Amino acid sequence: MSSTKSVSGKSAPVDIRPASGKLGILCPGMGAVATTFMAGVESIRKGRSKPIGSLTQMGTIRLGKRTDGKTPLIQEFVPLAKLDDIVFGGWDLFPDDAYQAAKKAGVLSNEHLAELKDFLSTIKPMKAVFDQTFVKNLTATHAKTGKNKLDLAEQVIEDIKAFKKANSCDRLVMVWCGSTEVYRSPAPCHATVAAFEKGLVANDPEIAPSQIYAYAALKCGVPYANGAPNLAVDIPCMLELAKQNGVPIGGKDFKTGQTLMKTILAPGFKARLLGVEGWYSTNILGNRDGEVLDDPESFKTKEVSKLGVLEHILQPHLYPDLYGAMHHVVRINYYPPRGDNKEGWDNIDIFGWMGYKMQIKIDFLCRDSILAAPIVLDLALFMDLSQRCGMSGIQEWLSFYWKSPQSAPGLYPEHDLFIQLMKLKNTLRHLRGEELITHLGNEYYD
Ligand SMILES: NC(=O)c1ccc[n+]([C@@H]2O[C@H](COP(=O)([O-])OP(=O)(O)OC[C@H]3O[C@@H](n4cnc5c(N)ncnc54)[C@H](O)[C@@H]3O)[C@@H](O)[C@H]2O)c1
Repeated sequence: MSSTKSVSGKSAPVDIRPASGKLGILCPGMGAVATTFMAGVESIRKGRSKPIGSLTQMGTIRLGKRTDGKTPLIQEFVPLAKLDDIVFGGWDLFPDDAYQAAKKAGVLSNEHLAELKDFLSTIKPMKAVFDQTFVKNLTATHAKTGKNKLDLAEQVIEDIKAFKKANSCDRLVMVWCGSTEVYRSPAPCHATVAAFEKGLVANDPEIAPSQIYAYAALKCGVPYANGAPNLAVDIPCMLELAKQNGVPIGGKDFKTGQTLMKTILAPGFKARLLGVEGWYSTNILGNRDGEVLDDPESFKTKEVSKLGVLEHILQPHLYPDLYGAMHHVVRINYYPPRGDNKEGWDNIDIFGWMGYKMQIKIDFLCRDSILAAPIVLDLALFMDLSQRCGMSGIQEWLSFYWKSPQSAPGLYPEHDLFIQLMKLKNTLRHLRGEELITHLGNEYYD
């Protein structure tokens, strides 16, 4: 991306390659989230649903002064791929097509599924790269075999190329919608591209399937967004490869449900300097994601992703009297009767003037995949935009969508939903050479 400041303080617009031709969206993992996303896009294309929850489709952006009355739709302001130009693909451990997988996931009604059956049945998963050490509670029946991990990565590269050709795509984006892998810290094989490639040949046990897909995507110049909390592209070698090949990356873990609520409420408590003594969050859910998270090692990955949020927003080191002794606990319990309809309870112990205690209780009866699907769409479209703008590496401006946003090494992530939204919209203004909005507003009173 290249832009220069003009005399008026605005930046010159960035050259953006047009969004012409088809955009292929590839999802490793075609379970509840991926199939709900695909079904929803088709339903919108047929005029049967509205793109509710999607900033790229329904969001607007104010330009200039509040008195200018200029608030176009984001999709009119920046060139995004059109929904009609999207084609879908993916990989899964099971051979079910998107219709069968959506039916098993139990998110959508039979009525919706019947309307979309013909379309969803055409989306068949490619064979997955799988290693049960990383997802203990699932056993694959539709997985690749290879002589080593490099061989598996090369097979994914072939899949990507074949998909692009068969579907006459101009561009591709990969969004990880696969299960949460077990908790791992970065290992020596993740330090550089050379070390990673050596590890692929040597079958290094620290290389997870999600990283094999990520490597294949980046080698092919395909942006990679990580919807789960496992490392995937959050390791130095992937950053190096992304920079080398000019590819955008982002993660981790779609921000839906309980964490979305936390990043809405916590900035409010901090803004009004209300103390938080404790925040206890518990969930019940009964989908396949819940089954995977029933394994303590996969739960640990999720827990780390969820716990970071409050610490970063409330900044106890700056406000020790308010947040220094906060207890933050997160639990997820697998409870099959609920399926995808999660119930999340939060008990928040807060305190105010003279230390008087108060409590807030939240009972969020949410639908996980319904909240996640528009995020998949927005990330795919914005990642594609980033690439057409020449922006590579970590896309911090998309932190809005993540529970655990990746940021530059040594830089703490921004978790506050409202700062994230401002950053996202200012990035779009910057790309188009519009004045950034600071909300200073002195000009109305001069
Ligand atoms: N739904 C939400 O609100 C939400 C929010 C944040 C993150 N997530 C994450 O998104 C991911 C998807 O969630 P979901 O509810 O669709 O789960 P799901 O279990 O319904 O789907 C995941 C799919 O991934 C497949 N899979 C696992 N490992 C794979 C591999 N190596 N290659 C290809 N496929 C693989 C599984 O077979 C399964 O079909 C999970 O990691 C979840 O933690 C979901």
